[in-house]
Amino acid sequence: AAESSPSGRVIPWFLANARPLPWRAPGFSPWGVLVSEIMLQQTPVARVIPRLEQWLARWPSPEALAADSPAEAVRAWDSLGYPRRALNLHAAAVAISERHGGEVPSDVDALLALPGIGDYTARAVASFAFGVRAPVVDVNTRRVIARAIHGRGAAGPARTRADLADMEALLPDDAADARLMNAGLMELGQVVCDARTPRCDACPLAALCAWRAAGYPDYDGPRAPR
Ligand code: ADE
Repeated sequence: AAESSPSGRVIPWFLANARPLPWRAPGFSPWGVLVSEIMLQQTPVARVIPRLEQWLARWPSPEALAADSPAEAVRAWDSLGYPRRALNLHAAAVAISERHGGEVPSDVDALLALPGIGDYTARAVASFAFGVRAPVVDVNTRRVIARAIHGRGAAGPARTRADLADMEALLPDDAADARLMNAGLMELGQVVCDARTPRCDACPLAALCAWRAAGYPDYDGPRAPR
């Protein structure tokens, strides 16, 4: 039975194949997860890792960052690009210090209320840092779901509510398993279900993938606005 559900296939694959990324280490702080998710939004994993370590060595807590100036945060962000993210992170650190006693909140709505924290980051922090059962939707999970579940080659423009519902429907009831499914589907989209060159021979969902079963039809839906 486990083999016939997407999570029954993705979770064992993820446990056996997950890259050992810093934010996946046991005991990595919720603050570290928040910083990593904001850095990862527009910057590749390999460039994030050294910068994340420097950042957390200098500012190991929200209160440490809040005590420094926004200009220092922007300066330290430097070559990561999109410096607005540094200002947002600083503003979030101030709000966490003022509203939450310096502890990153675990609740999705409290996270969404922080400056610069959107649907993706709020649920990624809730799930990855705290094990809350929340659907994490990003470009990778959307592509895997478009293909494996809907039989389309690409996800097309975001449809936030429908995308959340699609991901939610794939999450096991158990919150720890839901966390593994969120991380596993994201990993699958990054390393196997590539946008241009899917490696279906290595995919744990190949046997139940609707796009594969349909003969890989070209995507003919709307394009994401640029
Ligand atoms: N990209 C964004 N968040 C990520 C995560 N938690 N693991 C791997 N890649 C990511």
